[in-house]
Amino acid sequence: MAATDAQFPLPKVLTYPASTPPLLVTQGAEGRLYKTTHLLSDRPCALKYRPPKPYRHPILDSRLTKARISSEAKVLERCWREGVPVPAVYAMDPAAGWMMMEWIDGIPVRVGINKLLGPRPEEEALPETHEALLADLMKRIGAAIGALHKTGVVHGDLTTSNMMLRPRKSGQAGGSTGNEDEGEALNGDVFIIDFGLATQSMSDEDRAVDLYVLERAFASTHPRAEKLFAAVLEAYKETFKKASSVLIKLEDVRMRGRKRSMLG
Ligand SMILES: Nc1ncnc2c1ncn2[C@@H]1O[C@H](COP(=O)(O)OP(=O)(O)O)[C@@H](O)[C@H]1O
Ligand SMILES: [Mg+2]
Repeated sequence: MAATDAQFPLPKVLTYPASTPPLLVTQGAEGRLYKTTHLLSDRPCALKYRPPKPYRHPILDSRLTKARISSEAKVLERCWREGVPVPAVYAMDPAAGWMMMEWIDGIPVRVGINKLLGPRPEEEALPETHEALLADLMKRIGAAIGALHKTGVVHGDLTTSNMMLRPRKSGQAGGSTGNEDEGEALNGDVFIIDFGLATQSMSDEDRAVDLYVLERAFASTHPRAEKLFAAVLEAYKETFKKASSVLIKLEDVRMRGRKRSMLG
């Protein structure tokens, strides 16, 4: 995490006095993510900004940026309205290349899982308590994806980095149990983020590919927990009525994936 860098021009909205000094959270290939505030100094928000690309033709570049920001915001709004766990959109200026959304005060699912698994070697079996905690997280993930697909949206880039885990506010001031770190790492509500590649689709094939992308990402990011992925699909099936035909399609998609990797 770097503090605001003078080397990058900030979008104009972040130079207004009403926003607290923005913190550059991530800098991806396509855009930057800042943490700042919206309207109130105690209302944190995430600002996604796609700066102009100097190597692209300026008119084409601004059209593309505008279209992508509006499409991402539109999908988020639709999901939010229908109760899918996603950040709420607060404001946007697609022509200027930015969108402001609710700050999800938590950690990426990837970080939570790695915290629980720790630096153990890949071959070592998981303790049963960890397996149960992970399986429970997998169920929350599957339910979130089921809710997403139910609204007619496919994400396009499901990974454990594009999901956040927001701890439930623990009102109960229970004493520390000593092993709370382990359990607490995976506690909370799952939010889906990063809808830059999302599309509207009701097709089994598109939905199956969405699940397959996550399955592969999960296997490579968290090999020790690979076998727990089944719990994602179980919860998906429980949440989403049309899941069974998607899961049949998933078999095809996996088969194609295997053939492709055999051909190298
Ligand atoms: N609404 C949010 N609240 C908190 N953190 C966020 C939010 N949106 C994104 N982030 C953080 O910023 C990172 C990059 O955002 P993301 O939308 O995934 O953009 P990219 O297209 O660069 O991957 C995420 O992995 C997450 O850690
Ligand atoms: Mg991302």
